[in-house]
Amino acid sequence: MPIIRRLAAFEMLDSRGRPTVQATCVLEYGKGTASVPSGASTGSAEALELRDGDPKRYRGLGCRKAVANINGEIHAMLQGQRFSTQAELDAMLLELDGTPNKSRLGANAILAVSLAFARAFAAEHELDLFLYFAALTEYASTPLSRDGLYLPRPTINLFSGGKHAGAQNSIQDVLVVPISATTMDEALGMTYEVYQCAAELIFRKYGMRALTADEGGLAPNFPSPEAMLEDAVESITRAGFKSGQDVVLAVDVASSQFYHDGHYQLGDQQLTGEQMIDRLRGWLNAYPIISIEDGMAEEDWEHWTKLVATVADSPSPRGGVRSIMGDDLLCTNPLRIQRAIDLNAANALLLKVNQIGTLTEAAEALKLARDAGWRVTVSARSGETEDNWLADLAVGWRADTIKIGSITQSERLAKYNRLLAIEAESGLSFI
Ligand code: PGA
Ligand code: ZN
Repeated sequence: MPIIRRLAAFEMLDSRGRPTVQATCVLEYGKGTASVPSGASTGSAEALELRDGDPKRYRGLGCRKAVANINGEIHAMLQGQRFSTQAELDAMLLELDGTPNKSRLGANAILAVSLAFARAFAAEHELDLFLYFAALTEYASTPLSRDGLYLPRPTINLFSGGKHAGAQNSIQDVLVVPISATTMDEALGMTYEVYQCAAELIFRKYGMRALTADEGGLAPNFPSPEAMLEDAVESITRAGFKSGQDVVLAVDVASSQFYHDGHYQLGDQQLTGEQMIDRLRGWLNAYPIISIEDGMAEEDWEHWTKLVATVADSPSPRGGVRSIMGDDLLCTNPLRIQRAIDLNAANALLLKVNQIGTLTEAAEALKLARDAGWRVTVSARSGETEDNWLADLAVGWRADTIKIGSITQSERLAKYNRLLAIEAESGLSFI
């Protein structure tokens, strides 16, 4: 049984050059290091990311307090302790923090330790990290075996708007999903073609070079959300693929960002909840969209339920139901997911471990969603690091899809490359 010998942390920088936390956990026979990502278009129910608040340093975004909490209090409490499971460690971290949203020690400090322990445990047992993650879920009928595991299909940012791109366009992400690809290798090759065609298209149409937003998507000043979707379809076609058959689309509307006083401010139009639903339905009819994330705002529960009732059973380009996916709505929080299940307010979960702060709670969120028959996307954040644990998590937790960002920046490619490595080494494939 693993005994924690030492915990250590330091403040590292994320893909936006902002501080975040990296922790190392040393066990008797294994060692693991992990770093935590950070969002910008965050849900208000997320666990608290502890920032120093000193305006003279990184405009208040420093993480020295979170780092000091690991090197000080958490290290002192955990050193020499034996933990036979992840759940035991995470429970101890929650108890030590003692707040409902991890505001004392910081969700960034707590998650860094939770993840570093996972890596160290896997190393001590000479396990691939994705097998260790699989063993944390009840779906691992034969823990520590690859049976029943598969690769998540990537959903890849093509165009960006919202908070990740200076708010030029209202909707945050238009993503491409290479649905006909049979391997990760093929999926990424197809996406490269589409991306290059999109870069050429926006240069011709908008005179915009391929400068990218936070997650690597292209971000010209589209005249409307419909133009964004139209141009995505044109890029797919120009790349030589059949839109709707080879490549489909997913959209992250991130509508909480433009929801004010009960209205959706979409460009220069002010829409009611009903009108917003009509607009989304129009997109579903006109474009090959398999998933709409945060189509409604995080507290507009009533219209979430109406959206599910209106569109979930309309035919999806890939057959089956369309995903009405909650990100800001759910915040990977079991209580909010249960509420959404009770209200039939969503049918898919976007899972981000740092929204909740420990692996154990995120696994609980996963189980709730799965038991309700929902689809699950494991997602990165807009502020990422070179760490690649997300790829292992998506494989181990049998995500239907993974959302990492575009294929242009190394903090994203670290995860895509890990998926390629898992594919090459383990022989796992899409289902
Ligand atoms: P965030 O955005 O990491 O800035 O929250 C990602 C998303 O909304 O999916
Ligand atoms: Zn989102």
